Amino acid sequence: MTDAVVWLPEEMVPSHSGDALVVIDQINKHYGTLHVLKNITTQIRAGEVVVVVGPSGSGKSTLCRAINRLETIDSGTITIDGKLLPEEGSGLAKLRADVGMVFQSFNLFAHKTILENVTLGPRKVRGLSKEAANKRAMDLLDRVGVANQANKMPSQLSGGQQQRVAIARALAMEPKVMLLDEPTSALDPEMISEVLDVMVQLAHDGMTMLVVTHEMGFAHKAADRVLFMADGEIVEEATPDEFFKNPKSVRAKDFLSKILTH
Ligand SMILES: Nc1ncnc2c1ncn2[C@@H]1O[C@H](COP(=O)(O)OP(=O)(O)O)[C@@H](O)[C@H]1O
Ligand SMILES: [Mg+2]
Repeated sequence: MTDAVVWLPEEMVPSHSGDALVVIDQINKHYGTLHVLKNITTQIRAGEVVVVVGPSGSGKSTLCRAINRLETIDSGTITIDGKLLPEEGSGLAKLRADVGMVFQSFNLFAHKTILENVTLGPRKVRGLSKEAANKRAMDLLDRVGVANQANKMPSQLSGGQQQRVAIARALAMEPKVMLLDEPTSALDPEMISEVLDVMVQLAHDGMTMLVVTHEMGFAHKAADRVLFMADGEIVEEATPDEFFKNPKSVRAKDFLSKILTH
């Protein structure tokens, strides 16, 4: 990987001014009586890479889904690039298009080719011509190393390849921020690094990212900050070095001892 490889169109590279791109202010969310997000407050600055870790059930996915408005919140506010996340309507569709999302399960459209998977959003939502969408898609597929698979169906690709397509598909919308929720945890071990390499490259190119992952190598290489969540709360917020070497809370120590020794 060299610095000469520039993945993102110029207009997508944040200025690194450190301006808050995503502002999460005192959000709360319940599922019935279960309080899944408890007064979550944090900010993601332009160009920043934030890794979220924490035990299963601590609210990490719910937080991601709330930022993309796939889940409603009960109170608090989320703003993206200065715009309040609306309840619904065309404003929501527009803001949502600014947030790229990659899930644990590679949820590509099964009955569309790889190329179609990547061109659909830009054509339908961004209004690109077929030619422009194809060009952008092929460029991104090339960068994630699967351009030669463009005319295949998702089921013909390995899990690692599908997840790289999912990343390319999200990037094709030219999002302001990428949310990746355990993008490697459903992959066979030998495919994890090919996806992490793409994520590291993206981080180095200046993409603003929130990544739920327990891959410490990625956190060390790419993260500016680690958020540790437990029971719906942000319990610790630190640099990867600080967090992994010197966790402060009992819950973080306990969590790390489990993921380090498994
Ligand atoms: N749609 C839902 N309905 C009810 N409870 C849910 C729903 N989704 C998640 N939960 C619960 O909310 C809690 C947080 O879940 P989640 O955000 O998926 O945690 P994580 O991603 O950290 O494992 C868990 O206790 C989970 O069982
Ligand atoms: Mg989850």
